[in-house]
Formats: sequence, C-alpha cells, structure tokens
Amino acid sequence: MRTPIIAGNWKMNKTVPETIELVRGLRGALLGISGVEVVLCPPFVSLWVAKNALGQSGFGLGAQNMHWEDKGAFTGEISPMMIKEICQYVILGHSERRQYFGETDESVNRKAKAALTHGLKPIVCVGESLAQYEAGQTDYVVSTQVRGGLAGLTAEQMANVAIAYEPIWAIGTGRAATAEGANAVVARSIRGPLTELFGEVVAHATRVQYGGSVTPANIIEFMSQPDLDGGLVGGASLKTTDFAEIVKLTAQAKG
Ligand code: PGA
Repeated sequence: MRTPIIAGNWKMNKTVPETIELVRGLRGALLGISGVEVVLCPPFVSLWVAKNALGQSGFGLGAQNMHWEDKGAFTGEISPMMIKEICQYVILGHSERRQYFGETDESVNRKAKAALTHGLKPIVCVGESLAQYEAGQTDYVVSTQVRGGLAGLTAEQMANVAIAYEPIWAIGTGRAATAEGANAVVARSIRGPLTELFGEVVAHATRVQYGGSVTPANIIEFMSQPDLDGGLVGGASLKTTDFAEIVKLTAQAKG
C-alpha cells in the first residue's frame, strides 16, 4: 500500500506572517487526520517559521527548488545543506522552473541525486505542454522526463522519491485533466519507465501525485484512480478550508 501524499505548492505566495497564519489554520483544521501524508512547501524565507508553527502536527515541510551544490559562489541559490536542516522534502523540476528558469532533465537529475545524498525526499515534477498534448506527444514527453530526471538513481533511493504528474495545460487554468486520462498517463508513461529502470517492485511502490487545478470538487475523482497516490496542489493550497478539505477527502477516498 502506498500512503497518499498531498503537498501544497505555495509558489511565490504568502509573507512570513501570512505563512504562520496559514500553518496555524491548517493545523487546527486537520487535527487528528490520519492516513495521508501532508506536506507544505512555502517559499524559502518562510520555511523556518513554518517549521516552528508546524510543531508536533506531523506535517512535512518541503522547499520548492534547490541547487545541487553544497555551497559556493552561486548568488541567489539555496543548497541542500541549508534545506535539510528544516525540510524533509524538495520539489524539483516544476514546470514553472523548467519554463521560466531553464530547468532541464539534466539539472533535475543532478538536484535529485544531491537531495537524496543529503537525506531529502525529492518530488520530481513531469508533465507535457498544451502543444505537446495536442500533438499527441504526452507519452514521449513524460517518459523522457522520467528517464532523464531519475537517471542513475538506485532502486533503494527510489523509496524516497515521489513523482508529480502535472500536465502544464492544467496548472492554474481551472482546466484539470480527467482522472482517467491522468491515471492512464501515469500507468503508461511513468510506471512503465519505472519498471524498465528499477523493476516492477519499485514501479509499484513509487508514489505518483497528480497536479493541475486540484480542488475539493475534483480530488475524490482523482483519488479514486488506482495509480494516483495524492496531489500536488497550487492555488487551492493557499486557502485553509480548501486545502484541509482536499486532505480529508483524500483520506476518505484512499481509506
Ligand atoms: P494549481 O498548481 O493547483 O494551481 O493548478 C499546481 C502546481 O503547479 O503544482
């Protein structure tokens, strides 16, 4: 059994005081929830206060990106050494990083290796653009990203890797993928390559999240699919009630 994981990707949202408020709100709203791993990913500058505000809630904390080097002359970057003090997780290769900041499968791969070396659990994001989707290239794009991003990892390391399938055309658009469609892509283009790379046991054990306009209204549908093990939630993770509802409905659907 794969424990479902719901991660909130706050992106470039929430100040430090707003972070404390949202974390406290979520703690209250999700008191006693079980069966779902909850991970919050605020901006770097709020990670420390978020950690303190999380206290004994049991929620995980993740960064939204990191550099692969331990330290050095990389102005504006954050290293795994810094993140591992505070977080358990790190989102890598989000489509916004690929699109606006030149992230490639190669850099994602370097970062994934660095994260695992330092005991951080990467959430590796993959997903096709609208043009690629319409051109029927989804399987090729997604499986290439999986192979590239995870190249050279060991089967043991894969126990600490989650993958988020996020069709770019579904991110922030209110136009989510269909649950069946997303499940098919995950089964074919993510678990398929995972089987080739690491064997069936790993392919079956790896958690794959869906991301792209996840809301309380559609989460049950996604979580009713056999190959989807949670969500990577953007917009709806910024609202206490919406995010709490998504977690609760996931617990219900997977319970
Ligand atoms: P969204 O973002 O839920 O706002 O579509 C998801 C993501 O980019 O991780």
